[in-house]
Amino acid sequence: MYRTHTCGELRMEHAGQPVTLAGWVQTVRKFGSITFVDLRDRYGITQLLLGESLNAQLDKQPLGREFVLQVKGTVTERTSKNNNIPTGDIEITVSEFTVLNGSKTPPFTIQDDTDGGDELRMKYRYLDLRRNLVKQNLTLRYRVNRSVRNFLDSRGFMDIETPYLIKSTPEGARDFVVPSRMNPNQFYALPQSPQTFKQLLMVSGYDRYYQIVKCFRDEDLRADRQPEFTQIDCEMSFVDQEDVLQNFEEMTKHVFHEIKGIEFHEPFPRMTWDDAMKYYGNDKPDIRFEMKLVDLGEPGRGNSFKVFDEAELIVGINVKGCSEYTRKQLDELTEWVKRPQIGMTGLIYIKYNTDGSLKSSIDKFFNERGLQLFADQCQAQPGDLILILAGKEERTRKAMSELRLEMGERLGLRNKDEYKPLWVIDFPLFEYAEEENRWVARHHPFTAPKPEHIHLMDDPAQYKKIKANAYDIVLNGTEIGGGSIRIFQKDLQEKMFAALGMSKEEANHKFGFLLGAFEYGAPPHGGIAFGFDRFCSLLGGNETIRDFIAFPKNNSGRDVMLDAPSEIDQVQLDELKLSLLK
Ligand code: AMO
Repeated sequence: MYRTHTCGELRMEHAGQPVTLAGWVQTVRKFGSITFVDLRDRYGITQLLLGESLNAQLDKQPLGREFVLQVKGTVTERTSKNNNIPTGDIEITVSEFTVLNGSKTPPFTIQDDTDGGDELRMKYRYLDLRRNLVKQNLTLRYRVNRSVRNFLDSRGFMDIETPYLIKSTPEGARDFVVPSRMNPNQFYALPQSPQTFKQLLMVSGYDRYYQIVKCFRDEDLRADRQPEFTQIDCEMSFVDQEDVLQNFEEMTKHVFHEIKGIEFHEPFPRMTWDDAMKYYGNDKPDIRFEMKLVDLGEPGRGNSFKVFDEAELIVGINVKGCSEYTRKQLDELTEWVKRPQIGMTGLIYIKYNTDGSLKSSIDKFFNERGLQLFADQCQAQPGDLILILAGKEERTRKAMSELRLEMGERLGLRNKDEYKPLWVIDFPLFEYAEEENRWVARHHPFTAPKPEHIHLMDDPAQYKKIKANAYDIVLNGTEIGGGSIRIFQKDLQEKMFAALGMSKEEANHKFGFLLGAFEYGAPPHGGIAFGFDRFCSLLGGNETIRDFIAFPKNNSGRDVMLDAPSEIDQVQLDELKLSLLK
């Protein structure tokens, strides 16, 4: 037996017992004739005491960090206890040790507070994974996985695998493609999600499906985006939107209870997409704090202030209790909104001083009464600071939503231990893609319009007004899941493809299998997919999903450990009948 116990297991009750442990050397400290070693494994750290009798062997075989060691000895009470670790009351008085394997000095310290930078730790991810923090994240991920599976199993959901080598039907993100050796000049695509398969499974009668599954999207990366990521993907038959929301709200509550010990006694709030855009400036509102967007068109326009008169949108936020912001702080905020990522030309402020006076950067154009109208519109009180942006509608709304989040951050209103989930509902069916000059599906082309809006699909001028039975679940400003009720009638699906500018032939070429299936008794159905990595990272109090993935890619989509993507050799290219453009 390599070991009788793990390095996290032994306590005072084991004192006097002979044990064998195996693990990695965390530290070696020599005090005169005795040597202390901290031995680490997945479960914890145990202190070893190597007495004088082992010195000769230690001289021959010095121990270094990350050596793999096996020790035999007796559990003994420590003279100076360490309250910081669960095994801190005991140590092992070692009688015999074997070095199972040596180690080069690791390129960074394997500690919570490591000296290794991001790139270095990614290159040696197998060492980074030894660190406690990363281990805790992966453990949490595993527990969430179990918790989700237990819940869905108990509700009769069946885990069914779907293929990874599928047909390319770019919609939304770009596909990753895979050349086929057996079918030269032809390519598979990796699924952006199992969307069409889960719908086919509904046609096949598997009325409650789920899968914790890899999805692949070739899109620009961010802290909460990876090119391959994991979804908790679900679909149900004979349901309406309410059934889906209820079921997955319960799943979310179940996970919070099991993983965080948090109970949500109230139903999750629901907000229409229109309201989310109006009051928060985006479709994934962080409702841990108020500071809602206020339209200031009314008090703003018609006062000969060109910036306001020419703006499509004048929008403000009331930053409570910040009227004492200094000139320097306001200048710095102005620079912040001028950064290219935000893209505004300036920031306007109105300070509602505690003495009731109003001071602003637009005093030249607005007298005290004029400013008071802004303050009233924002429901401001003495002591508050109003920040205003004006310009093109979309950019200004987006910028204000970013500024709101930034102010929330600066004022400590975005506490990561406070969880505020909500449903955003009634999404538009379509959105206009300026670059492509056409309407695209806001969620995906299989999403059902609200029945009362179907008639508007005959007239492109009405597309903007059509709402879908589509919903997102949002947690602390992150979209953790999204889904919809699906189209299940062939003619409506064809109508949808046509609205997206697809000819009948193209629709048949791309989605003939689905349209065909809809001719053989497709049941009403709907579903949702949670971003599993995102959900885990929020539960773990962290915003980068990379920390919750065992072997993630960096921001350029590279695996720096494997050095992938990489070139392939000529033989492989020839087999695939591919030649490269230099
Ligand atoms: P959607 O595209 O909204 O829906 O994806 C569902 C959830 O997956 C997460 N997500 C990502 N996580 C990490 N990296 C990415 N690149 C990434 N892209 C998306 C988000 C998102 O809410 N088939 C539909 C679901 C359905 O209709 O049932 C779909 O894939 O948290």
